Amino acid sequence: MDAVTITDEPARGALRDTFGRTASDLRISLTDLCSLRCTYCMPAAGLDWLTKAQRLTDDEFVRLAAVFVDLGVTSIRLTGGEPLVHPTLSDLVYRLAALEPRPELSLTTNGVALDRHARKLADAGLERVNVSLDTLDRERFAQLTRRDRFDDVLGGIAAAADAGLFPLKVNSVLMRGSNLHEAPQLLTWALRHGHRLRFIEHMPLDADHTWSREDMVTAEEILDLLRHAGFALTPAPTRGNAPAEEFAVTAGPRHDEWATPVGSLGVIASVTRPFCRDCDRLRLTADGQLRSCLFAQDETDLRAPLRAGASDDELAELIRAAVAGKQAGHGIGAVDFVQPRRTMSAIGG
Ligand SMILES: C[S@@+](CC[C@H](N)C(=O)[O-])C[C@H]1O[C@@H](n2cnc3c(N)ncnc32)[C@H](O)[C@@H]1O
Repeated sequence: MDAVTITDEPARGALRDTFGRTASDLRISLTDLCSLRCTYCMPAAGLDWLTKAQRLTDDEFVRLAAVFVDLGVTSIRLTGGEPLVHPTLSDLVYRLAALEPRPELSLTTNGVALDRHARKLADAGLERVNVSLDTLDRERFAQLTRRDRFDDVLGGIAAAADAGLFPLKVNSVLMRGSNLHEAPQLLTWALRHGHRLRFIEHMPLDADHTWSREDMVTAEEILDLLRHAGFALTPAPTRGNAPAEEFAVTAGPRHDEWATPVGSLGVIASVTRPFCRDCDRLRLTADGQLRSCLFAQDETDLRAPLRAGASDDELAELIRAAVAGKQAGHGIGAVDFVQPRRTMSAIGG
């Protein structure tokens, strides 16, 4: 875990925590429902879904987002669950884009229904999209996601690029005994299409609690595998608040007919090289609970006060207090680490 210095100053100003970090990026999970059942994320039978009454309404999402923007949040990412199953997504994007000052708006999606929605979303004000894709093999896709939707995802990616949501980021989780060997193909494919691939380390947020530090594929292992396959990767000098370590890809495998491979690769090594010291993220769950970390054990309930008629100032105070309580680091690897009750899909990845 990175060392984090405790500052003398109490949390003050906009959304500063006691370690001197400022929260400016909000991830909103619109729903815990998902159209896929990725084996490393969710059981085949799904989870105990939230009821409609438990989930925030669009008016509630917009009201809370406005308070966060007032407090200095400059970017909002919509996620889930699967945000494209949210029936009024483009209308919600339009309303969020009208906030002052306008936040940057992006979406993380499995891409299954993106071909039908990309244009509407771009027109509504969406600026960027991250699509999750772990394999280029149709059969493996069906095994990994328990759904035969590979072609839909590829169609969704193409539609997003056509709609101007470009360059898009592609997120891949590599699992041993499954898709690990596909890392070079995934990178070649992404570079050829001008997409920005990011490999994400598997984190202990799975519903089945099968994650293990010994079994997970590490960033180092992925980089070794790619270099061994013939990629020349040069680390970018800085990464700021971005979770991904960026690498310039300056050459590809020699046997490839591919002439001038250029582009970049991101690696999100949340487990082995945590970036907690620079974390600027907050997460709002679909049922209105604010989390200052993916791995937090505590949540701040914003839904109950919101529904009880709290003013914007009262909501802002609750948000400030939650940020002030943000822990130094996620603590994976510590002897007392306990996996949070909610899974990745229920928090909003
Ligand atoms: C939970 S999904 C939610 C958004 C959308 N349904 C999607 O597929 O992008 C967001 C991302 O989290 C990743 N993910 C899910 N469980 C994970 C875990 N335990 N560790 C790391 N990444 C995970 C998925 O692969 C996906 O890229």
